[in-house]
Amino acid sequence: MEFLKAEIEKNKSRLLDELIQLLSIPSVSADPAFREDVFEAAEFVRRKLQDAGADNTELCPTEGYPVVYGEKIIDENLPTILVYGHYDVQPADPYELWTSPPFEPVVKDEKIYARGACDDKGQMYMHVKAFELMLKNDALPCNVKFMIEGEEEVGSDNLGPFCTANKERLAADIVLISDTSMIANDIPSITTGLRGLSYVEVEITGPNRDLHSGVYGGAVANPINVMSKMIASMFDENNHITIPGFYDEVEEVSSEERAAMAAAPFSLEQYQNDLEITEVDGEEGFSTLERTAIRPTLDVNGIWGGYIGEGAKTVLPSKAFAKISMRLVPNQDSQKITDLFTRHFESIAPPSVKVKVTPHHGGEPAITPTNSTGYKAAELAMEATFGKKPIPLRSGGSIPIVALFEAELGSKSILLGFGLDSDNIHSPDEHYGVFNYLKGIETIPHFFKNFTDLKAD
Ligand code: BES
Ligand code: MN
Ligand code: MN
Repeated sequence: MEFLKAEIEKNKSRLLDELIQLLSIPSVSADPAFREDVFEAAEFVRRKLQDAGADNTELCPTEGYPVVYGEKIIDENLPTILVYGHYDVQPADPYELWTSPPFEPVVKDEKIYARGACDDKGQMYMHVKAFELMLKNDALPCNVKFMIEGEEEVGSDNLGPFCTANKERLAADIVLISDTSMIANDIPSITTGLRGLSYVEVEITGPNRDLHSGVYGGAVANPINVMSKMIASMFDENNHITIPGFYDEVEEVSSEERAAMAAAPFSLEQYQNDLEITEVDGEEGFSTLERTAIRPTLDVNGIWGGYIGEGAKTVLPSKAFAKISMRLVPNQDSQKITDLFTRHFESIAPPSVKVKVTPHHGGEPAITPTNSTGYKAAELAMEATFGKKPIPLRSGGSIPIVALFEAELGSKSILLGFGLDSDNIHSPDEHYGVFNYLKGIETIPHFFKNFTDLKAD
C-alpha cells in the first residue's frame, strides 16, 4: 500500500478535475426536466469505470433510471466486494441561496462546492478512482463489482426488483458504501446504523371552493387551521409521538451502547453554534445523539395551502397539504408505520373536513454489527490512514438499499463514509473537503486488502 500516497499526490489535479466534470452534470432524479442529464451522468460513470479497467460495464435499464454496473473478477476463489453508490442528486433549489451556481463546481478553501459534491458523487467517485489506482499498481487483492444507481434520492423504488432479477450477478461477500458521514476529520467514525423512513402526503379538504374569510370565516372549517391542530396533536408535552402503536416495535438499545454514545466526542455547544440555535429540542429523556440515531421521529417537511402570494388576500381556503416524514429505528416496519399513521390521521380529523393520505417511498432501518470481518477491515483501514481508531456510531439518515441488500441478496453492508454533517448535503452550498475526497481514495484500497486478508485467515 506504499504506492498510494505518492500516486494520489501525483494525480491530485486530475482526480479533482474528473470529479468536477461529473459534478457539472445536473443529474437531479426528482425532476423530469433533468432526464437527459441523469442519463449523461450514468454514462459518464460507466465510461470512467471502463477506462479504469472494469469489465462488462453496462447501463442496466430499469423502469426508471439505469443502474451502472461494472466488475473485475480476478479469481473466483477470492472474496467479492460489491460497491454501491448513487450518481443522482437532490434538487438544488432554492438556487438564489447558493454562493456559486450548484452545477458549476468551484474549489474554495480546500472544499469542492456543488450539488452532489458529498452526496454522493464525490464519495461514490472515490471508489472508481481507488479501483483505478489498485489496478494500475497491481494491487487489486480481490474481486469487485460496482452497482451505482440513479434513483437513491427518490426512494430507489426500482432497486428491489433489480436486485431480485440479478441475484447471481450481484452476489458478493460484502457491500461497501460511502454515502454517510464521520464525526470530524480528526475523529474518524464508521456508521453502524441507519434509520428507516415512512413518507406520506396529506390533503385536507374543507369547503368545495376558496371562500371569503369574512363572509364564511368562523362558521366553516378552515382546513389549514384544522391540519395545524391535527399535526400539533401528534406530539405530547414530552415530544413523544401520540400515534397509537408507534413505539410498539422500537428496539430498546442496550445500556452499553447508550454509554458508548454518551462517550462519543460530541460538542452540543458546537452543534448549536453551527445551526445558530440557543437550545436543542426533542424527545424527553434522550440525548441529542440518541434523538437522531436510536429514536424514531415525525417531521413536517413542507406545508402549503391558501394564499401565499404578495400582500394580503382574505381567503378561507378549500384545501391544506403537508408532506410528512417519519424516521424509523429497528424493529419498526415502514409499511406498518405508514398504516398506523394513516389510520390515526383519519381518526383525529373532525367530521367537518375530508382527509386523504397518500404514501410515498419508504425504507427499512438497518444496523451493522461491529464484530464482523467487514467492520474490522474498515476499522483497520481508517486506523491506517487517519492514524486513529474510528468510533462506531449510528446515523440518523436513511439508505433504504442497505436493508434491501440484506433481504434480497443476504449481504451485509459496511458504511465507510467520509463526509461531514456540516457538508450541507441536500442544502445550498453543499461541499466536500478535498482532504476527505483524497483520504477516501487512500482508505478504500486498505479496506480491500484487509477484507481479503481477514477472509483468508
Ligand atoms: N446519503 C444520504 C443518507 C445519509 C446522509 C445517511 C448522511 C447518513 C448520513 C442519502 O442520499 C439520502 O439522502 N437518503 C434519504 C432517503 C431517501 C429515501 C430519499 C434521506 O435520508 O432522507
Ligand atoms: Mn446519498
Ligand atoms: Mn441524499
